[in-house]
Amino acid sequence: MRKIVMLAAMVASCVLCLARQPERAKHGMVASVEKHATDAGVAVLESGGNAVDAAVAVGLALGVTHPAAGNLGGGGFMLIRTADGRTNFIDFRERAPQKASHNMYLGPDGKPTDDSWKGYLASGVPGTVRGLEFAQKKYGKKKWADLVDPAVQLARNGFPVSYGLSQGLRSKRTSEFLSLFPESKRIFLRDGKFYEPGELLIQPELAQTLERIRNEGSKDFYEGETARLIAADMAAHGGLITLDDLKNYKVFERTPTTGAYKGYTIIGAPPPSSGGVGIQQMLGVLEGSGYEKHGAGSAATVHFMAEAMRRYFADRSEYMGDPEFYPVPVSKLLDPKYIAERRRSIDPARATPSSTIRPGKTLLGESDETTHYSIVDAEGNAVAVTYTLNGSYGSGVTVAKIGVLLNNEMDDFAAKPGESNMYGLIQGEANSVQPRKAPLSSMSPTIVLRDGKLYLVVGSPGGPTIINTVLEVIVNVLDFGMNIADAVDQPRFHHQWYPDQLLVEKRFSPDTILELLRTEGHAVKVTNGQGEVAAILVDGEWLTGTADPRTEGTAKGY
Ligand code: GLY
Repeated sequence: MRKIVMLAAMVASCVLCLARQPERAKHGMVASVEKHATDAGVAVLESGGNAVDAAVAVGLALGVTHPAAGNLGGGGFMLIRTADGRTNFIDFRERAPQKASHNMYLGPDGKPTDDSWKGYLASGVPGTVRGLEFAQKKYGKKKWADLVDPAVQLARNGFPVSYGLSQGLRSKRTSEFLSLFPESKRIFLRDGKFYEPGELLIQPELAQTLERIRNEGSKDFYEGETARLIAADMAAHGGLITLDDLKNYKVFERTPTTGAYKGYTIIGAPPPSSGGVGIQQMLGVLEGSGYEKHGAGSAATVHFMAEAMRRYFADRSEYMGDPEFYPVPVSKLLDPKYIAERRRSIDPARATPSSTIRPGKTLLGESDETTHYSIVDAEGNAVAVTYTLNGSYGSGVTVAKIGVLLNNEMDDFAAKPGESNMYGLIQGEANSVQPRKAPLSSMSPTIVLRDGKLYLVVGSPGGPTIINTVLEVIVNVLDFGMNIADAVDQPRFHHQWYPDQLLVEKRFSPDTILELLRTEGHAVKVTNGQGEVAAILVDGEWLTGTADPRTEGTAKGY
């Protein structure tokens, strides 16, 4: 008996409790997927810049050091919450070129071609440079040139290639893909003499481009020398992006989705992201269900959450698209009565076959190479940025003379509405190709408040899995009381309605959890990894943060 009491006392007094510990700091913090980019952001914070300044520096640095997803030739979303409680969502997603058309990715046999994801036709008009400059002008404290300069130095002087980057570049998939495009082959594969870890990757053309952007601002990228070089390369290779497309590129400021969950406030990504609505709807289904009493990672919890996911992704297939082109029924999808109906339709003991679930009366194809970073500064401003080239190394094309990889974001449109795309996702007319339209995204930069105060800044890459990854980290913190490192480490799972399968990371126990899920009727498929979260949690007077242990990323504070 005495022994039991002693043990109980030891458990009660556990301070760190077996969990991996996050980075801790008192003033500011940056969490990103790549060390040099994180360092660039922290240096900006330490020298008096705010979180938006740091976000600009990190975004541009990642465009140099994380070429698979960091970018100048892509687009994304920046969610901002200022210390005085204002929020903004800067949408710098790529837009379809003016010459894009509904059936442009269908071959003579009516089947989708590879053009939506490979080569010059795959790119939407990039938004990153204009988006970052817009954010800096509206919120920044530092000079634009000072924020571009770290990226210039990394491109000009080079940075040591990490083990992960070296392995990624020499992998069969990436090396074969980049070999299709001479500039990409020369720069990233050194024409077959693969980079070893520790060797410097120097990118002189990219350095020159960044210098022009540093000196002339985004005008260079959209109207100047860089714009001319992009348009010329496009014209020479049958691409659609013209000088006019670049000149007309416009950033949108949007109102973030805002909802409540158990007294917390969840601030998320509105359309053209499907993330904020999805996370809010799924949290609504979870709230009041009692799902959490089974514990994190239990078969019952995974089952209930997977059923919420399956139902949201059915809605997503039908109702989500660019709000400038399609009236996304956000309030109907988040109507408490509708959510209660969705919750009631879940059988706690059996998987509902996806064939019996329709989008409510009232999925999509994103690849997994996106990246997210989270920043909090000493004043309490918070920024969550998710941006992307879409596929790993985007379209594969590096534009001649400027060293900029272009996105293949056009693949996030429904090439053939109603049919599943290369990720098995089904999507409707709401997300069909139209000139100047933004393809639907899953990117879900998210900020959570507790008692009206900043609590959690989180996001992830991962195509459609992003929404579920972010949901899982949120509930790991809010419902299961984990520290942020532990919350990010937990094995993840994903259901997207179709294909009707439950993807699970391989760390779930095969003979207990997975067996139980199979018995309940889930088609379980084990995957290597899901998501690359970068998150910061305010824990009392401490900022606690982490990059994802599934990456080489870092969280660093001061
Ligand atoms: N291309 C990834 C996304 O937008 O979801």
